[in-house]
Amino acid sequence: MAKFTQFNDNLFGFFNKVGFRDDEVLASLRKETQALAQSNMQISPEQGAMMSLLTQMVSQPSDLVKVGAIEIGTFTGYSALCIARGLAKNRTLIACDINEGWTAIGKKHWEMAGVAEKISLCLGDALETLENLQLDGTLDLAFIDADKTNYDAYYEACLKLLRPGGIILVDNIFWGGDVADLSVQDPDTVAIRAIAHKIAADERVDCSLIPIADGVFLARKK
Ligand SMILES: C[S@@+](CC[C@H](N)C(=O)[O-])C[C@H]1O[C@@H](n2cnc3c(N)ncnc32)[C@H](O)[C@@H]1O
Repeated sequence: MAKFTQFNDNLFGFFNKVGFRDDEVLASLRKETQALAQSNMQISPEQGAMMSLLTQMVSQPSDLVKVGAIEIGTFTGYSALCIARGLAKNRTLIACDINEGWTAIGKKHWEMAGVAEKISLCLGDALETLENLQLDGTLDLAFIDADKTNYDAYYEACLKLLRPGGIILVDNIFWGGDVADLSVQDPDTVAIRAIAHKIAADERVDCSLIPIADGVFLARKK
């Protein structure tokens, strides 16, 4: 029998009280994003808290300022803020997106949180950004959360950039449940289904699909 506990209103209330830590900057960023038609693209607060903690666990301090993490898909900057807060001394995050307006909201909140100097925003197609990065084998963490049909290409590029022991987080693996419904065959769903099966069988990584929010695949490079 499957072992998981369904949320009801009571349990969800409890979870929201003790499940993650919140603060004014995160709340302000959620509020400003809520006003956008695309607000459901923002990661959940509990996922953000998990990502800060995972970053803290893998981010290795450096004597010189050095890129430690990359994010593909920044939107209004919530996940970037959470990653940046977990970075070790002298480690920075490259945040990739194509939208100037959405990321400007993020920039404002990165300033408010005091982490703006730890984040380099790269506006432009993320595949091109990845191709031009000279970081072979030194990254601690990559987060993939942009256009789904490029997930496989992002995964391969990020895996190359990671050090052994570094991690990749791939978002939206559940895709609202569609990933498990084979009658759904649109390009985004097919791409997510393919990357999920690929990671599960990929001998280059150890992995675990975390059933948080919309499903996050966590893969650690061997
Ligand atoms: C789901 S949202 C990211 C949510 C974000 N991680 C957060 O915490 O709120 C996906 C983002 O990917 C960006 N995007 C889509 N195609 C892209 C591409 N080819 N290169 C870079 N970014 C892209 C979109 O502009 C959008 O902001």
